Amino acid sequence: MDNFDLIIFGGDGDLSFRKIFPALYHRLNEHQIDESSRVMAVSRSKRTQKDFIEQLEKSLKEYIKDADGAVILKLLSMVTFAQIDTDKKLEDAHAAKWFTKDFHSIRVFYLATPAAAFGPICEYLDNQGYIIPDARVVLEKPLGTDLKSSEAVNNQVALHFPEEQIYRIDHYLGKETVQNLMVLRFANNIFESSWNAQDIDNIQITVAESIGVGTRGGFYDKYGALRDMVQNHLLQLLCLIAMEPPVMLEADLVRDEKLKVLRALRLYDKNSILTETVRGQYTRGNTGEGRLPSYLEDIDKFESNTETFVALKAHVDNWRWGGVPFFLRTGKRMPHRYSEIVINFKDVPHNLFPDRKKMANNKLTIRLQPEERIELQQMVKIPGPGGYRYKPFSLELDYAEHFDQRFPEAYERLLMDVVRGNQTLFMRRDEVKAAWTWAESLLTNWEKSKMPNVLYEAGTWGPGDKVMDGDHEWVKSRHVIKAQKKLEDDDE
Ligand code: BG6
Repeated sequence: MDNFDLIIFGGDGDLSFRKIFPALYHRLNEHQIDESSRVMAVSRSKRTQKDFIEQLEKSLKEYIKDADGAVILKLLSMVTFAQIDTDKKLEDAHAAKWFTKDFHSIRVFYLATPAAAFGPICEYLDNQGYIIPDARVVLEKPLGTDLKSSEAVNNQVALHFPEEQIYRIDHYLGKETVQNLMVLRFANNIFESSWNAQDIDNIQITVAESIGVGTRGGFYDKYGALRDMVQNHLLQLLCLIAMEPPVMLEADLVRDEKLKVLRALRLYDKNSILTETVRGQYTRGNTGEGRLPSYLEDIDKFESNTETFVALKAHVDNWRWGGVPFFLRTGKRMPHRYSEIVINFKDVPHNLFPDRKKMANNKLTIRLQPEERIELQQMVKIPGPGGYRYKPFSLELDYAEHFDQRFPEAYERLLMDVVRGNQTLFMRRDEVKAAWTWAESLLTNWEKSKMPNVLYEAGTWGPGDKVMDGDHEWVKSRHVIKAQKKLEDDDE
């Protein structure tokens, strides 16, 4: 990897300590980068280099299991702390020197700050002359709260960086198992030929989280699950499942195909908002380990209409997917954390076996996290003399079992791609716009119809069972039942 300079705005924030610095540690540990690259952690607050480095060392030891002390020291030696307040046009005296002396030609500005600061930071960098020809800017989500505000942010950034130098992060795209979706689809012939409305009955994408909103209540209450998870992470997963094969694995060729899917998403209207969407909020609950607070207790407010759970029936209106529902679901404070995509194939057209019962359908389950694996459910004959008895059985490919190695975190891959100048795993501006256009059809119709949140107890699978039955049979799908059963077994 070429040497680079990385400047992290929000350098003493939660994301930097939890994700960005640990990612650098691992890349350093695996010799992909070396200590000649430089990192500047920028904050608006004043603090000393010593104080910052001490905090960073402590956090690296906390977030990295079995961290190697020597590698930590190497990383710390690369880091400079600087106070830069773009509003007050104030910066530490040594910052300008850092930018102008012995610098590397690849310069990455990582904006791990609220989106409202993106425009002013870019303007400041430009005025200071810090944007060199090989500079890139990394933007963390959320990019605005609706189409208008996201366009405003994108316009401001575009005044200073061309699109080819803008890297909009959706960390789901950096996950190993998410990248494997591309390989699964496009390096295997058997799936692609049945990957369509003729053979697939429905697709389910679930991202369940066991955590609540924790200390992020102030932020979360302005966003909610639709903006925080669906508009970006779940839609990106949907795109990878639904897109046409790109001609090559080149950034714009891949993103062109994803864009077509986003544009084919059916917008919600005043009727479908009522029949095809559910929003929920968690109330107090209990786990075996004790009482869980409600969302309102978590955010310390008496009322809020922000959703912590969303379930949707989405439609990709194109030739390949006409008539195939995509069920999307995400929620906080579920019993377990797991992300999974289930492709439900259609039933066999005719059961020729003597019992004439309805057979279980073929099902491809892609478990993204944790316990990464791929399962293909098929019917098999139960051994025995005479007669045909059969049952569903799964072929399993367990990642951890087959690949005895550390799976890199999403941020490791994404950071290195920024340095390499590869935009494939980053969202292009038109993608973000199309995703917001769709998300807005939900937001505005929820508001117009005054759609309430259905309450669900923390530690349960959300309001699904109560409000989603009939053709929403997905709520009772196998993985939910399995997870519920596991929970009951664990309790026993
Ligand atoms: C973030 C959301 O983008 O993704 C969080 O803001 C969420 O609310 C997180 O918890 C989930 O990411 P992961 O990688 O833990 O599935």
